[in-house]
Formats: sequence, structure tokens, C-alpha cells
Amino acid sequence: MKLYLKIWRQFNSSSKGEMTDYEIDGVSEHMSFLEMLDLLNESLVQKGERVIEFDHDCREGICGQCGVMINGRAHGPLKNTTTCQLHMRSFKDGDTIYIEPFRAKAFPVLRDLKIDRKAFDSIIAAGGFIGAATGQAPEANSIPISYETAEASFDAAACIGCGACVASCKNASAALFTGAKITHLALLPQGQIEASKRVLTMVQQMDELGFGNCSDTRACEIECPQGISVLSIAKMNYEYSKAILLRK
Ligand code: FES
Repeated sequence: MKLYLKIWRQFNSSSKGEMTDYEIDGVSEHMSFLEMLDLLNESLVQKGERVIEFDHDCREGICGQCGVMINGRAHGPLKNTTTCQLHMRSFKDGDTIYIEPFRAKAFPVLRDLKIDRKAFDSIIAAGGFIGAATGQAPEANSIPISYETAEASFDAAACIGCGACVASCKNASAALFTGAKITHLALLPQGQIEASKRVLTMVQQMDELGFGNCSDTRACEIECPQGISVLSIAKMNYEYSKAILLRK
């Protein structure tokens, strides 16, 4: 199929960017969205032009590195799908597709569609870990955890940190990401020791980095490729209130 692409080009974080038009022919419906960009880049190389830079790593929907706005939606039109797992069969011959980077003050554009997500790393570094010794895997029944609790924790741990929640929130809030990381650990016995300190430092770090408040629109939940629930945000708020009340 033939497609008309409007792609954000920006040389570096301090330069001014703009949408640039491209035409691409010979796109197979079986290609992933990133393979379609690869094909476009091959044609740019042949013409001696600078390739379009974009983030990716696993191309299997698990690492959280890919992520662009496709026709105004984080990761494109499909639910629970990362950009690398989106296939061109979701588009029609002759379509015009707008491709832009995830936009947020805390995620500066590095080049073209590549953004700097180290703000997420610093939220994790502020408290997204446990101090309990891990060692070998313990005997499965030595710390009883109910099936429901283990599943809820695992659901929150499924967050891949892609930033779609931030990009789709009108306040550029990182509440879903931070809430998921806090929920994952707060539900398990191993996460209890630092629970109060963790939620206070991670929320403080999130605020200092310039992420906005939760907008209560649930856009994050809708666009999250892992289907992380906004209940994670409710859990974060509960843990935060508890930590403030218990603070000595
Ligand atoms: S490249 Fe890893 S999730 Fe898309």
C-alpha cells in the first residue's frame, strides 16, 4: 500500500522542529509500524538524507522503549498494543498518518521521535526497590500471599514504563506509572519495610520533575499498552495518605 506520512523532524532538544511530509509505497500489511519506518529510512539512506530517529529495542512489546503518537494517540489506534506490535493492517492504502514524539516537559525530545525518559528512571531510583535480601528463590509457601494479592501485584508490575500515560494525559501526569510501581511493591510483604518512605520519596520526585497532577480523565488507562488500571493511582494516594498520617 501507499501511505502519506507527516513526521516530526527535530535535530536536537534545543532546535525547532516541524512536521515533514513523506510518501512511502510498497508497505505490506504484515509489516509492523516500526518496520514501515525502517523501510522509509532505507529510502532516505539511498537518497543521502538523514534517517528518522525513533526509540525501539525488543520489538516484542515488553521493553517499553518504543512509543510515538500516531494520529494523536499514544501507540496508535489499537488497545493494549505498543507501537512495535502495531501492524500496518490497521491502516488503509492511501491513508495519511501523523507521527509525533511523546510530548511532555519531563520528556524532552532528543531527536525526531526519540525522547529522553530518564525522568522515569529517577522516580524509580527514589524508591522503587526493596531492601530485603533476595538470595535464592524461597520455598513457595514460606510467605503466604493470596492468589488475588499476587495477581494484583503482578498486574501493576506489568508496567513497561513506555510513557504513554504521560503523553496521553492533558496534565502530563506520571501518576499511573508511579502508582503502578508503588502498588506492585506495596501489595507484597517484601515491600512493607520501606513502604512509607517509598511512597513519599517517589511522589516528591515525580512532582519535582515537572509531571502534572492526575487529570482524572482516565486517558492514561485507555492508552496504556499494558492495561494498567487507574486503581494503581488510588492505591498510591491511599499509601501516601497513610504515610503522612503515620509520619513521626
Ligand atoms: S520496542 Fe520494546 S516494547 Fe516496543
